[in-house]
Amino acid sequence: MLRYMIEHLDIFACPVCLANLAITENSIRCLGCHKIFKTEDGIPLLYWPSDSNQDENVTNIVKSFYEKTPFPNYEETENIMDLRQKARKGVFARLLDEQIPFNIRIIEVGCGTGQLSNFLSIPQRFVFGTDICLNSLKLANRFKIRNGLQRVGFYQMNLFKPIFKEESFPLVICNGVLHHTNDPFGGFRSISKLVKKSGYIIIGLYNRYGRINTDIRRTIFNIFGDRFKFLDPQLRKIRLSNLKKNTWFMDQYKHPHEFKLTVDEVLGWFEKCGFDFINSMPKFQVFKEFSENEKLFEKKPKGNILEHLIIQTHMLFSGTEEGGFFIMIGRKR
Ligand SMILES: C[S@@+](CC[C@H](N)C(=O)[O-])C[C@H]1O[C@@H](n2cnc3c(N)ncnc32)[C@H](O)[C@@H]1O
Repeated sequence: MLRYMIEHLDIFACPVCLANLAITENSIRCLGCHKIFKTEDGIPLLYWPSDSNQDENVTNIVKSFYEKTPFPNYEETENIMDLRQKARKGVFARLLDEQIPFNIRIIEVGCGTGQLSNFLSIPQRFVFGTDICLNSLKLANRFKIRNGLQRVGFYQMNLFKPIFKEESFPLVICNGVLHHTNDPFGGFRSISKLVKKSGYIIIGLYNRYGRINTDIRRTIFNIFGDRFKFLDPQLRKIRLSNLKKNTWFMDQYKHPHEFKLTVDEVLGWFEKCGFDFINSMPKFQVFKEFSENEKLFEKKPKGNILEHLIIQTHMLFSGTEEGGFFIMIGRKR
């Protein structure tokens, strides 16, 4: 059951003391502090609480929210072909798949129900999907097993207490997660340590300006009730199932904790943690579109404060479907 973890044991570390781990039968033992970690339904339970009480309180609130509404969830019959089809439509996942080399290790932090981790593992890549939410991880693992995926594993991990050694990954992906923590920058600093020198980090966050539309809709729903759901473009889509609509609605409008960030704040994080800006979606240059054939890992101009303001204001009108989401890619110096 823990075969995949055994094959990659060299990069795992105890979330409590960072010592090496050993695997016996169905449990995991730290060789430093001797703590024993169990597994449940094939998921190693390596969650360890954050040092700060405030971080931990928010983590617990967010965890119980996602235990009830795992995100983004699967349809009953969803399979690999569906994942591929969605990626083709979504551009970003397709570009990742086309441009991430084979035979490398990738960690997805806050993988939710593991769509991206499962998808990226289909060709020859070694993927580690991590999340605090056990129910999401179980769904991710069920999909993996049902579809016979061999090069992906799912682990319960708190991003403030990583279960991997520093500089273990040439690529760290963290989409839509840090803004649901008490300390997004602290979270970034924590996961940035997992990136190898010259490796990449990809983070997706809610934008302070781009999210204003969602904030307005949330206020309307709070005042007038959920019958105004049709105001959200995703919820108007006919081909989206009720399960997916409900998951989206809960994640966007009923979430107990979310932050919004600006491009310049995140560029500041990059600077503090030793990352160069590489690329972004949307692009940070006025009149430059994110193309269907974008070279994700090629260095692009990071723009100036005025350009950032224009782009983020533009997101107010263009980014309504994604709820004001922006993605930034950095490379460790
Ligand atoms: C909006 S979902 C994003 C899921 C996935 N990345 C995606 O884009 O579909 C946010 C995820 O972050 C996870 N998360 C929140 N706080 C976390 C923490 N401290 N450590 C690890 N995962 C966390 C949640 O459990 C949830 O699955």
